[in-house]
Amino acid sequence: MMTPEYIQTLRRLMEFEASRKEPPEGFPALPDIPAGRYTDPRFYQLEREYIWRKSWLLAAHIDEIPEPGCYMLWDNAGQPVVIVHADTGTINAFYNTCSHRGAPVVTDERGKSRRLTCKYHGWSYDHEGELRGIRDPQDFRDFDMSCRGLRKVRCEQFGNLIFVNFDPEAISLLEWLGPIADEWAEFQFDNCRLAARAIFDLDCNWKIAMEANTEVYHVRSIHPTTIAPILDDRRNVNTLYPNGHGRMIAPTPQGKSSLDAVAVPDNIVEIATVGEIARTCTQSYGLFPNWVSPLSQYVIPPLLFWPNGINRCRMETWTMAPQWPEGHKPDLWTVNEGSELCQVLVEDTQFGEKIQQSMESYGFEGVPLSYQEARIYHWNQAADKMIGPDNIPEELRVQQVIGEEWIYPNDPRIAQL
Ligand code: FES
Ligand SMILES: [Fe+2]
Repeated sequence: MMTPEYIQTLRRLMEFEASRKEPPEGFPALPDIPAGRYTDPRFYQLEREYIWRKSWLLAAHIDEIPEPGCYMLWDNAGQPVVIVHADTGTINAFYNTCSHRGAPVVTDERGKSRRLTCKYHGWSYDHEGELRGIRDPQDFRDFDMSCRGLRKVRCEQFGNLIFVNFDPEAISLLEWLGPIADEWAEFQFDNCRLAARAIFDLDCNWKIAMEANTEVYHVRSIHPTTIAPILDDRRNVNTLYPNGHGRMIAPTPQGKSSLDAVAVPDNIVEIATVGEIARTCTQSYGLFPNWVSPLSQYVIPPLLFWPNGINRCRMETWTMAPQWPEGHKPDLWTVNEGSELCQVLVEDTQFGEKIQQSMESYGFEGVPLSYQEARIYHWNQAADKMIGPDNIPEELRVQQVIGEEWIYPNDPRIAQL
């Protein structure tokens, strides 16, 4: 929770960041991130097997399946999933894979029905995934319907957001979020409605695209007229959380909204409980592995990054808000009704393809990161912990140099104030 004391500490940390002449005492030099992590198929496979398979991933919003019986397909993580709003009110997720011969059980992107019925031979399942009926059951000898249900995917909600996890052994979503769940209480995720959701193909590794939104070091070069005037990057305070998550808080000049650069709609209703920091600063979270979102008193607008091959990715743009004036759905990230990226994201994505080419060239070996870019390094450390360093070829590993003492609630900077 952002207590008054904590807010004061953050304000002092901003001044600390602005006045320091070098990285804070005790902060390590960051070894280069091997370029192969963006280009080597072996690392891509490790990401698939460990990161995408074991992380909590934002898949859907309750508004997309508002009533019992509603279902939707979701395959952004490369696995065929159907998400169902069950009669009991819970949200379930299953592999969209018929237990008979693997046909997709659901073929429409969205729909509503009492049963999910496979179009190949007509097996039908209820909202809990139980197999309820098969054609010509007399022709199957010793057939036990009870063990032929749809395979479940873990599915949990944070407010109106629906997350999935392919690992049956995963910790709960709340544990995964850790202290962030508390910090997000003021944004009322249980009250946010989905205003816009779009997806864009980019020609670079998904991490290249994501990292453009994970540091403020680029702001003065890339966003000289859009973000730079409303974000004081020298006063940015990064915080590293358990499980690879991170946060940035950078003050904005008086009277400016952190989201002015991406056009907050007029007359939009505020989230009344949002506190001082989010109102006066750019407060943005990176949720491991693929979520980046500024949060404000107006909107909850996550960007999500999904791999689509080693050198291609998809960027999803969401905008959520409690309510909006009739006919004025906010969509922070796009223009022309979701068909094009807004100016800020055009700026952020402009170099992706060229960076990918550079990283694949003979001339590029690794990425040296500054203290300002520490969240990127932290992400990479968490990735290796998840994969298991022993599973990673040595030349593709990162060293674990940022110690626990830098992970929230620890913060050696506070003693240096
Ligand atoms: S594959 Fe679904 S009923 Fe045969
Ligand atoms: Fe940016």
